[in-house]
Amino acid sequence: MNLYKRHLVTAALPYANGPVHIGHLAGVYIPADIYVRYLRLRGKDVKFICGSDEHGVPITIKARQMGVSPQDVVDKYHHIIKESFARFGISFDVYSRTSSKTQHETAAGFFKKLYDSGKFIEKNTEQYYDTEAQQFLADRYITGSCPKCGNESAYGDQCEKCGATLSPTELINPRSMISGSKPILRETSHWYLPLNEYEPWLREWILEQHKEWKTNVYGQCKSWLDGGLQPRAVSRDLDWGVPVPIEGAEGKVLYVWFDAPIGYISNTKEILPDEWELWWKDKETRLVHFIGKDNIVFHCIVFPVMLKAHGDYILPDNVPANEFLNLEGNKISTSRNWAVWLHEYLDDFPGKEDVLRYVLCANAPETKDNDFTWKDFQTRNNSELVAILGNFVNRAIVLTHKYFDGKVPPLHEVNDYDKATLNDIPIIKQAVEENIETFHFREALKEAMNLARLGNKYLTDTEPWKLAKTDMQKASTVLNIALQCCAACAIVFEPFLPFTAQKLRQMLGMQEADWDMLGKNAILPDSQLLQEAQLLFGKIEDDDIQKQTDKLK
Ligand code: 2FM
Ligand code: ZN
Repeated sequence: MNLYKRHLVTAALPYANGPVHIGHLAGVYIPADIYVRYLRLRGKDVKFICGSDEHGVPITIKARQMGVSPQDVVDKYHHIIKESFARFGISFDVYSRTSSKTQHETAAGFFKKLYDSGKFIEKNTEQYYDTEAQQFLADRYITGSCPKCGNESAYGDQCEKCGATLSPTELINPRSMISGSKPILRETSHWYLPLNEYEPWLREWILEQHKEWKTNVYGQCKSWLDGGLQPRAVSRDLDWGVPVPIEGAEGKVLYVWFDAPIGYISNTKEILPDEWELWWKDKETRLVHFIGKDNIVFHCIVFPVMLKAHGDYILPDNVPANEFLNLEGNKISTSRNWAVWLHEYLDDFPGKEDVLRYVLCANAPETKDNDFTWKDFQTRNNSELVAILGNFVNRAIVLTHKYFDGKVPPLHEVNDYDKATLNDIPIIKQAVEENIETFHFREALKEAMNLARLGNKYLTDTEPWKLAKTDMQKASTVLNIALQCCAACAIVFEPFLPFTAQKLRQMLGMQEADWDMLGKNAILPDSQLLQEAQLLFGKIEDDDIQKQTDKLK
């Protein structure tokens, strides 16, 4: 990590066809935000790029369902998504949209460069066509039975049940999503990226040079490569998207998966119009893509092949992908409204952004699919955040006000237990660093929580409220150490619980979080005046949880 001059971190561009839910957060945005906040704390030069994915069939299908135009759909959801991410503290440097002028120009320019340098093959093929709607049926416009698992509502590009990637002609009993009719085959021509030609290079680059990628990512890449790659169409017969920028291509647009990852480049251009090339073309930039597991092939195979074929760009150094989060034992489903929507959570639980960040990170589907339950949400809040972190900080600050006029009391003679407590801080710091840098965010958070646990236990064991009656010097030492642990919490929790960490720093009279101070003996100087204690977390009652489970029904 230290070899790089700058870090370009992207988070998958969500489709602007609906709001963001907890599955998106746990899979992509929380881990990405923790990583970026950590890099910033370490003083790295970092840019965090995201935006709405506004093209493709997911958008036009939604428009059809709502009886509005695709533009109306993306306008509506782009703003909802952008605002809820901001309220939730996801600290993007840019959140733009793929319908932007910059993106249209950049994606068209990218296609043109590959076209002009002969990187595509043009093919005539027969594709499904809906004669009633007079439209070709790309990707999700076509549904049918999955040839692999028999699921009767697989899409033309993917079966959501077994995860297989499909092409429309593989579907059994295909039906048009538009009219429900049986489609016919009609000839059309498209441009294909010959992924097969890049196979030897991909094998070497991923399978040999990136053995450190997460097991789920590496494994999926390996099975794709072992299965053999096929040329992949990068255009579609649709009227929504970036028009294919060559003559005679009327009515054709770039495939959304060709267009969307270029959105990372365009959105970088928006914030760094003069410097963006340094961020995308200089070998000293480290590019990391945070994504969900259904995006692995596009980010590890298709986009890298596009970048390689273009020739000027760096490649991702890592592509951390999570598995899926379920909700109360069932798959999250937008169409069945089986989801916890971020904007609704923010309205229902004002001031509790960090509780959701905590629960979703503590229970993140890092290595396997995981389940979110409201009961677990309540338990983690009440018995971890309130009972450990909140309780510890509150006791330390209240006692300092009670016995030392709210000023950090000095450290006097230290015994072995005091020393051991202080010595644990740099050990925890290192464990957090190692885990974040290898994308083990659950473990990193557990370590951070161990710091709060350490402080809480220290206070309980040393009982400064009793010492204050008999040995004021010892009480002073104990509270000094407890407050140093609180200050360490105010730094170490910054990537995970940014709202709480900031509140805590304010109470302790600290300036910005400084990672390098972690593990130094005195983060807080003697006599520093503390603010009155405010509770960091409040209890979540059964009623609050009941309302949420009722809402699901
Ligand atoms: O799966 C999705 O939600 C896609 N919109 C992700 C796109 S990521 C990137 F390529 F833009
Ligand atoms: Zn299937």
